Amino acid sequence: MARILTVAQQKGGAGKTLLAANLAAHWARTRRVALLDIDPQRSLTRWHGLRPAGAAAIAFSCVSGWRLGGELERLRAEADIVIVDTPPQIDADAARAIRAAGLVLVPLQPSPPDLWAAEGTLALAAEERRPVALVLNRAPARSRLRTAIEREVAARGLRLLPQTLGNRHAYALAFARGMGVGETEPRSAAAEELAALAAALAETIA
Ligand SMILES: Nc1ncnc2c1ncn2[C@@H]1O[C@H](COP(=O)(O)OP(=O)(O)O)[C@@H](O)[C@H]1O
Ligand SMILES: [Mg+2]
Repeated sequence: MARILTVAQQKGGAGKTLLAANLAAHWARTRRVALLDIDPQRSLTRWHGLRPAGAAAIAFSCVSGWRLGGELERLRAEADIVIVDTPPQIDADAARAIRAAGLVLVPLQPSPPDLWAAEGTLALAAEERRPVALVLNRAPARSRLRTAIEREVAARGLRLLPQTLGNRHAYALAFARGMGVGETEPRSAAAEELAALAAALAETIA
């Protein structure tokens, strides 16, 4: 049965969709990957629609409401890994995707509002006893704000992955072409950090 990775964070613009797309493209080279877009904005659906012919295949679905449970089961049976991209609020669908997750991945930019915005997601995951990993996105190598966020996360007993993503044009460029950075710029710093994050996650997803 597939592992389910739910990318969730109530802050819009945190990098949920970008992460879902890049992780899917990365893993699709070696595994059967399915993406499930439950955000009504459908950014991930647009990304998937832009994938060029010949790119590694990624099963794709976008559903909501009563169909979601069945769709999760179907994808789970067909894929090695299912990645769910969620809207910037915890509605019934997002709550369901968090409940089903083997790991809830919470991206945040290193600033307090991103951590505050994640509180609802973190509380629900804790209530449902789902494992959570936080990942810093658009993170500078070192900054006072980053250190402050790292301290605050540690003080709350949350798991912050040591792997981070920088603020890089390569991500936006690849996204606009329906690809991941590992496909468009395989030897870039972006591809390298993305691969490191994917490897760390692969070991974690229950
Ligand atoms: N690490 C990054 N480097 C450069 N641009 C990024 C990065 N992460 C996100 N972005 C850009 O920020 C915007 C919001 O990201 P997105 O993944 O759509 O956030 P969310 O899904 O959480 O709302 C997008 O335009 C995306 O391309
Ligand atoms: Mg999104």
